Amino acid sequence: MESDTVLTATDLTRHYPVARGNFQKPAVLKALDGASFTLQKRKTLAVVGESGCGKSTLARLVTMIEPPTSGELIIGGEDIAKASRSKIKSLRSKVQIVFQNPYGSLNPRQRIGAALEEPLLVNTSMPKAERAEKARAMMARVGLRSEHYDRYPHMFSGGQRQRIAIARALMLDPEILVLDEPVSALDVSIQAQVLNLLAELQDTHDLAYLFISHDLSVVKHIADEVMVMYLGRPVEHTTRERLFETPRHPYTRALLSATPIANPTAKKERIVLAGELPSPIDPPAGCAFNPRCSLAFGRCTLERPELLDSHTAKVACHAVFEQ
Ligand SMILES: Nc1ncnc2c1ncn2[C@@H]1O[C@H](COP(=O)(O)OP(=O)(O)OP(=O)(O)O)[C@@H](O)[C@H]1O
Ligand code: SF4
Ligand SMILES: [Mg+2]
Repeated sequence: MESDTVLTATDLTRHYPVARGNFQKPAVLKALDGASFTLQKRKTLAVVGESGCGKSTLARLVTMIEPPTSGELIIGGEDIAKASRSKIKSLRSKVQIVFQNPYGSLNPRQRIGAALEEPLLVNTSMPKAERAEKARAMMARVGLRSEHYDRYPHMFSGGQRQRIAIARALMLDPEILVLDEPVSALDVSIQAQVLNLLAELQDTHDLAYLFISHDLSVVKHIADEVMVMYLGRPVEHTTRERLFETPRHPYTRALLSATPIANPTAKKERIVLAGELPSPIDPPAGCAFNPRCSLAFGRCTLERPELLDSHTAKVACHAVFEQ
C-alpha cells in the first residue's frame, strides 16, 4: 500500500549567529532546536506557541527556503541534504507556502490572472492558453469570479486576497501546503470561510497541511494533530482531541486556559503565564519553561526534558513522568 507520509522531519534545528558587539564572538540563537514530526496526506499538523518560539523558522525549513543547521528532512522519499539541484527544484514545487499577510504576498502591479499563471510560466512548459485555463479553474475553485482575472490586488478584500494566495500556492499541484498564520490577519467572520475553504481543498487535492498559528481556537477547527512549541522545541505533540481534552504539559495547559473558547467543557482552570518568553540566545538551564512553571522542582533547572511517549501524548516534562 502506498504510504500516506509525505514528509518526515527528524531532529531539525536552525541556529543563527547574532552579533554581540564589543569584539565578542557572535552568540548562537537557537530559533529551532530539535523538532521531529511527519506530515500525512489529507491531514493537518498544527504548530502552536507564542511569538518567537520558532514557528516561521520551521516553515522556512520545510519549504526549503533555508537549509536546517542539522537534522534530516525527507520530502517525497528524498533526503533533501542529498538531493541534486534539479531534484530540489521539483521538490520545491511540491511544497508551497501561504503567509499571514495577504497584502504583502501579492505584487501590487500584477493582475490576478498573471499572478496565478506565474508559477506555471516559471516551472513548466505549459502553453499560454492552458495556463490561463488552469488559472481560471483555480479561481473558481477558491471562490473567485472570472471577471477577477484582470483585476489588481488592491481591488480585493483581505479574505479575497488570501483566497488568491491559496490559489497561487496550488497552481503547481503541491502535496504539502505550509500555512503560516493564514487567517490571523483576517476578521473573525472571514476566518471561518477561509478555514472551510482550506478544509475542502485538503480533501479535493489530497493535501498535507502544516498549519502554523498562535491561536488555539483556530487550531481547534482544523488540526488533526497539534505540536506545541516552546523556545524552539516541541513540548507536547498529540491528537487534537487529546490536546484539548487532556492537555499534559504545563505550558499547553497555560495556553489553553488563556483561550476560553477553545475548551468550554473543561474544568475552569485559569493558569496565568507569568513573565515573558526568555531569550532563545540564553535560554534557562534545564527545562526552558522552568521560570514560568508552577510545577517546577529541582530536576527542572538541571536537566532538559526530552519529548517522550506518555500514554496519550508525547510530552517533554519531568513532572509528567514522575507522577
Ligand atoms: N534570520 C534570523 N536571524 C536571527 N534570528 C532570527 C532569524 N529569524 C528568526 N530569528 C529569531 O528566531 C526566533 C524564532 O523566530 P520565528 O520567526 O521562527 O518565530 P515565530 O514562532 O514564527 O514567531 P511569530 O509568532 O512572532 O511569527 C526569534 O527569536 C527570532 O528573533
Ligand atoms: S520539566 Fe519541570 S519546569 Fe518544565 S514543564 Fe515540566 S515541571 Fe515545569
Ligand atoms: Mg512567525
